[in-house]
Amino acid sequence: MTEQTYIMIKPDAVAKGQIGRIISRFEDAGLRIERMELDTLTPEHAAKNYAEHEGKPFYDGLIDYITSGPVVKMVISGPNAVAVSRKLMGPTDPATAPPGTIRGDFGLTVDANVIHGSDSIESAQREVDIFFGNSQ
Ligand code: RTP
Ligand code: MG
Repeated sequence: MTEQTYIMIKPDAVAKGQIGRIISRFEDAGLRIERMELDTLTPEHAAKNYAEHEGKPFYDGLIDYITSGPVVKMVISGPNAVAVSRKLMGPTDPATAPPGTIRGDFGLTVDANVIHGSDSIESAQREVDIFFGNSQ
C-alpha cells in the first residue's frame, strides 16, 4: 500500500555536501519525493519532533545538533515507504550501520547520524503535520 513518510537530512550531512547522494538512495529504490524544503529548525520545532526523547541524557545535545544548521525536510511516498526508508537508512548508530545503508556510508557517530525517518505510519502523519502542516 502506498504510504507517506517524513525524511530529514540532518545538518552534518547537509554541511558535508551529501544531499544529492542521499536523495538518490530513495529515488533509486523507487520512492517518490512529494515535498522538499531546505530549512533551519527552531528549538521549538525540534522539541516538537523529539518530544519522546525529552529527559534522556542525549536530549539537549540532540536539540543543539539538529538546530545547528540547515536540514532538508522531505515527504517521501511509495509502497511501504516507512519500512523501506528505515531499511535504506540503516540502524541509528553509523558505527554499527552496515555498508550500503545511508548511515553506514555517510556517517561515523550516533550524535551526528546523517538522517531521520519516521518509525511508523502514525509518526509519519504527525511529523508531516509538524514540518509541512499549518501547525508550525
Ligand atoms: P531518528 O528518530 O532520528 O530517525 O532516529 P532513530 O529512530 O533511528 O533513533 P531514535 O531512537 O528515535 O533517536 C533519535 C535520535 O536521537 C539521537 N540519539 N543519540 N547519543 C545517543 O545515544 C543517541 N541516541 C539517539 C540520534 O540523532 C537519533 O537519530
Ligand atoms: Mg526515531
